[in-house]
Amino acid sequence: ALVSLRQLLDHAAENGYGLPAFNVNNLEQIHAIMQAADECNSPVIMQGSAGARKYAGEPFLRHLIEAAVEAYPHIPIVMHQDHGASPAVCVNAIRSGFSSVMMDGSLEEDAKTPSSYEYNVDVTARVVAMAHAVGVSVEGELGCLGSLESGMGEAEDGHGAEGVLSHDQLLTDPEQAADFVRKTNVDALAIAIGTSHGAYKFTRKPTGDILAIERIKEIHKRIPNTHLVMHGSSSVPQEWLEIIREYGGEMKETYGVPVEEIQEGIKNGVRKVNIDTDIRLAMTGAIRRHLAKNKSEFDPRKYLKDATAAAKEICKARFEAFGSAGQA
Ligand code: G3H
Ligand code: 13P
Ligand code: ZN
Repeated sequence: ALVSLRQLLDHAAENGYGLPAFNVNNLEQIHAIMQAADECNSPVIMQGSAGARKYAGEPFLRHLIEAAVEAYPHIPIVMHQDHGASPAVCVNAIRSGFSSVMMDGSLEEDAKTPSSYEYNVDVTARVVAMAHAVGVSVEGELGCLGSLESGMGEAEDGHGAEGVLSHDQLLTDPEQAADFVRKTNVDALAIAIGTSHGAYKFTRKPTGDILAIERIKEIHKRIPNTHLVMHGSSSVPQEWLEIIREYGGEMKETYGVPVEEIQEGIKNGVRKVNIDTDIRLAMTGAIRRHLAKNKSEFDPRKYLKDATAAAKEICKARFEAFGSAGQA
């Protein structure tokens, strides 16, 4: 059944687990997530970015997720809009049936001026008022997603007009988080702790100076009743990087967010963990390997079957590691 994000995250908080929130763009990714969830009996969060709507088209994306709801009636599913850039985007998603939206008012905020904070509070509070009136949940974001290592990160990377922001300016401030939640009444809050979107997060295995798990604890102490969200939380498995390289791909040395660090976050209030890149890496590795080994193959179903199986294994591993397996 389609459920709101709030319902799932409240259950996760009561029972001390976290949920992966997987980005979806196509049939195979949705198959992979649902097969994994079905096998380990986990609730599901599927989220569509602006890029996903552009790629698939909004009706296709929506109907694919609705097909999952129909095909797996025993699994609670959240249809969530990832990184809404404006209230208008959120209203459109609500009208088309999404049960949860993210109003990302931090996108305008990289200069960290006082007025951009006010902007974020204002747009987020407006979206919460509209969404809650129709039973839809809202995720907000405070802080600047991006690497604490200079020159890394694909988005919101802290390279504003004033140049590179310092370590502390990028991270979510616990006091400000408390103020933000009080003023906006968001259901979930995405926080910045040094992660960034995409495959190139860290040039070395992350330690506390570049991945600020301690900051989660400080934020959770201030706002214990707010569900925290980690973005940019792919683990970037070395095995898949090696398979991609072995079968003709080119990927530089890179490290993601270790699953153990995410588990530490879940012990401290993180309930939603956004993952897109890991599924991309697994699918690409599986397709490269399949085509290299089956040079005369031309039926897309054959290599997409391998890609689906590879994505499914990633999903199962995350459901199990974050504790949502068995909770559907
Ligand atoms: O928010 C980031 C997700 O990985 C979505 O990426 O904009 O390429 O769909 P995308
Ligand atoms: P990754 O790029 O680490 O998978 O993060 C995805 C994300 O945060 C989507 O909002
Ligand atoms: Zn994100």
